Amino acid sequence: MNHVWEFWATKQIVFGVGSIQRLRDILNQFNARSVLVITDPGVCRAGILDSVLAVIEREKYVVSVYDKVVPEPPVATACECYEYAKSECDPDVIIGLGGGSSIDLAKVTALLLAHGGHPSDYFGENRVPASITPLIAIPTTAGTGSEVTPVAVLTDVENNLKVGISDNHLRPEVALLDPELTLRLPKYVTACSGIDALAHAIEAYTAKSYQYVEVEGPILFQGALPISDALARHAIELIAENLPIAVHQGSNLKARSNMLLASTLAGMAFSNAGTALAHALAYPIGGLVKSPHGEVTGLLLPYVMEFNATVAANKLQKVAGYLGARTVGLDATEAALAAPRTVLKLVETIGLPTHLSQIGIQETDLAEIAEKTLEISRLVRNNPRVPTKDELIELVRKAL
Ligand SMILES: NC(=O)c1ccc[n+]([C@@H]2O[C@H](COP(=O)([O-])OP(=O)(O)OC[C@H]3O[C@@H](n4cnc5c(N)ncnc54)[C@H](O)[C@@H]3O)[C@@H](O)[C@H]2O)c1
Ligand SMILES: [Fe+2]
Repeated sequence: MNHVWEFWATKQIVFGVGSIQRLRDILNQFNARSVLVITDPGVCRAGILDSVLAVIEREKYVVSVYDKVVPEPPVATACECYEYAKSECDPDVIIGLGGGSSIDLAKVTALLLAHGGHPSDYFGENRVPASITPLIAIPTTAGTGSEVTPVAVLTDVENNLKVGISDNHLRPEVALLDPELTLRLPKYVTACSGIDALAHAIEAYTAKSYQYVEVEGPILFQGALPISDALARHAIELIAENLPIAVHQGSNLKARSNMLLASTLAGMAFSNAGTALAHALAYPIGGLVKSPHGEVTGLLLPYVMEFNATVAANKLQKVAGYLGARTVGLDATEAALAAPRTVLKLVETIGLPTHLSQIGIQETDLAEIAEKTLEISRLVRNNPRVPTKDELIELVRKAL
């Protein structure tokens, strides 16, 4: 049994409507000459890159832009971005501007600039030797929480698998959160990224307690802790109230603000507590289909919660309350099961698929998914109910 936990966070979080104007002061903190902005074509088309470049004092810095990030970025894109950074601009500071894909690619580039090698040298947990090139993360989606997490996710195209680098050295120095940047986010991306934030919060909250996570040596994802519980609870409440509004009334700045706050709170929670089975399953499934990460985790979440209900009834009952479900008069198990039912309804309300067959998974994929999931031990060990391979196959079959 463990008696000790740790909590890590990004050094500086700047939040609020119009806060992008603070970028000027933030850059001054770094004593930098060369700044590289890493982003993607969608963020450029939305006019966000231009509004960010307008804030940077161009007479003070040599500013370069890599704008070729693609969603769910392949390992090869990370290598290409690193080559560009190394040969063209040699930055002292990197700005990751966009959704999780752009921020994660910025993390990997900052890591390779500092320590060299290939992204695969760092796959897994705690394999980064020291600090990386300083990173300012400016999210334009509300979901991944990547601006505060120690995680970067890439796609291993050859092996049909999402792969991750997790290390506290990857946490950005500054997270700059301006809700106005998320106002033009399309409905579908709002839904996928927003439900991912809910998956982070619920998986962190219902993770095995840190006391019972069995592993030798220091680990990043320690299981549920008092601080992550508090953050996750608030994130769940905010997402339940605001996600349908953000999806169906995108111009609502209050809903956008609350979603951006919730995704950061959820990121702070899961980056210490860890996520669990829905995210572990999403690694092989995300490698097999082209769906965005959030579509996969959101789809799996209610099925995993139902699977966990026998072991985590107490916490799931509380989740049901935070989600706004009516549990009066229900016994403990029924009250716990109200939580996955409410999440399933939310997934439908925001227009996302609720069955894996809708995104292209077939019965013949189940055994491979179960085997590859069990290999993601840093997430599976966090799940309150420890799954066998057969139980996993049955869980995924229910979601088909
Ligand atoms: N690092 C972490 O801790 C972490 C956590 C969860 C997920 N992830 C990873 O993050 C990635 C998903 O990130 P995401 O969901 O934020 O989406 P994304 O970065 O893949 O972006 C999705 C699309 O939305 C567009 N877009 C982004 N912001 C926009 C805006 N404001 N206006 C208009 N269009 C905009 C982009 O151009 C892109 O086409 C996946 O690779 C996932 O595995 C990382
Ligand atoms: Fe996620």
